[in-house]
Amino acid sequence: MLSKIHSVAVWGIDGYDVSVEVDISKGIPGISIVGLPDQAVKESRDRIKPAIKNSGFDFPQSKITINLAPADLKKEGSCFDLPVALGILTAGQIIPVDKVNDFYFVGELALDGSIRSVSGVLPMAILVKEKKSKFIVPSANVLEAAIVGLEVYGVGSLKDCVDFLSGKKEIQPYKIDSEKILAQYNKYEVDFKEVKGQMVARRAIEIAVAGGHNILMIGPPGTGKSMIAKRIPTIFPSLEIEEAIEITKIHSVAGILDGGIVTTRPFRQPHHTISDIALIGGGAIPKPGEISLAHNGVLFLDELPEFHRDVLEALRQPMEDGRVVVSRAKGKIEFPSRFFLVAAMNPCPCGYYGDDRRPCRCTVPQIIKYRKKVSGPLLDRIDIHIEVSALGSRHLVSDSSGEDSETIRKRVEKCRKIQFHRFRGTGIYCNAHMDTKQLKQFCILDDDCKRFIQEALEKMNLSARGYDKILKVARTIADLEESEKITLSHIAEALQYRSFDREL
Ligand SMILES: Nc1ncnc2c1ncn2[C@@H]1O[C@H](COP(=O)(O)OP(=O)(O)OP(=O)(O)O)[C@@H](O)[C@H]1O
Ligand SMILES: [Mg+2]
Repeated sequence: MLSKIHSVAVWGIDGYDVSVEVDISKGIPGISIVGLPDQAVKESRDRIKPAIKNSGFDFPQSKITINLAPADLKKEGSCFDLPVALGILTAGQIIPVDKVNDFYFVGELALDGSIRSVSGVLPMAILVKEKKSKFIVPSANVLEAAIVGLEVYGVGSLKDCVDFLSGKKEIQPYKIDSEKILAQYNKYEVDFKEVKGQMVARRAIEIAVAGGHNILMIGPPGTGKSMIAKRIPTIFPSLEIEEAIEITKIHSVAGILDGGIVTTRPFRQPHHTISDIALIGGGAIPKPGEISLAHNGVLFLDELPEFHRDVLEALRQPMEDGRVVVSRAKGKIEFPSRFFLVAAMNPCPCGYYGDDRRPCRCTVPQIIKYRKKVSGPLLDRIDIHIEVSALGSRHLVSDSSGEDSETIRKRVEKCRKIQFHRFRGTGIYCNAHMDTKQLKQFCILDDDCKRFIQEALEKMNLSARGYDKILKVARTIADLEESEKITLSHIAEALQYRSFDREL
């Protein structure tokens, strides 16, 4: 007897239809599976048989052939355990065929017949919704599927699923508790008010986020660079629902979803030993890398000079395009990667250059070598550099808290609105992304400003690549003041945020 079960798999961050065909015929008992990579077939076979037996059903003593179509796309094995088991039970006439046709199924089976969560359920649910069908998923994935707005059922075990399909047990479609989700929405565990002092860094970060300017913090150990970086997502404009779904989709595919739906902007901090595949994305069945997990949020590269040079070089294209393309024999896969880059580093190898708490032990050539490790092309994409120095004892012991994230965020949102109107219809949203033509159009300087900036460039020995960035940052500073015109004071402040260029 032949049966056919609807299932879904993920390619990139999109779901696609997979049909699980099971044929039970006379012959030497055994299971053969086609359409999966070898290792996955073996593992799947080893799980399904005990899971069916331990759920109290007879395993057919016949020749079982399973086909997962289309056969040419590489699939991960475990999410088909449930549809394959149901296919076997349907072909064995334990489950009514007409009932099975109403649903799509995914789920990994444990040996005792319970159902474990799988990754990529959100993009799968989007496909099932397009097919106007209903979806049966592991209980742990049910919220993730339900946010798409389709009829979804969570099942905890194979037995429950079979009983439901054969009408012996009732399971209600999952209802989203939207109040609970809203309560977590845009709520962060950290806040800028916990950062004492550091007025220069706070101001620079506000400008950076307001104009979308990537930022580099340079400072000795323990000055709060990591602490500040962690709080940057909290002053971003509030997360829109569409953005949240986009992030959830990526995190779902990566299998790192915790709690069903992403409700805050991501903060990703990969270690400096990370490989380029882990950072950019890839693999035999391509998975999003850290830059995509940071999509719509912050990517924090702490100890920037310690990252491999080629890993940093690989960041350039995705930063430019806001997406990363992974090529495979079966075609290209795209992952979104519009992230805000925050980098941090010590001023020298020992960490204490320029710090009055401790003398620096490094030689000048050592310091130069250390700084040269940060690749020029990456620096080109960082508009703002600041020095974060040690907090004075007065600030450290003080109880007074700094401005809170919400207050800062309101100013950021206002500033983003001005930019949104300025760039309407151009495909860009913030000052940092202006091209040469837009720079000319929106950063008009009077003669005084021009003279001032020219003198400063010469005196501070700033590189040419710094010039455009100074203009962009000055534009953002003016926008924060709601000033149409860029003035001397805006430029003077923007010039302060080029410390890395200056010292080299
Ligand atoms: N401005 C500050 N306000 C309050 N606490 C601070 C501040 N700066 C540092 N601290 C305290 O010092 C600790 C260390 O700071 P953090 O880890 O952010 O330093 P860092 O600059 O990242 O150091 P490293 O270079 O070693 O990575 C923080 O966890 C925090 O408790
Ligand atoms: Mg740190």
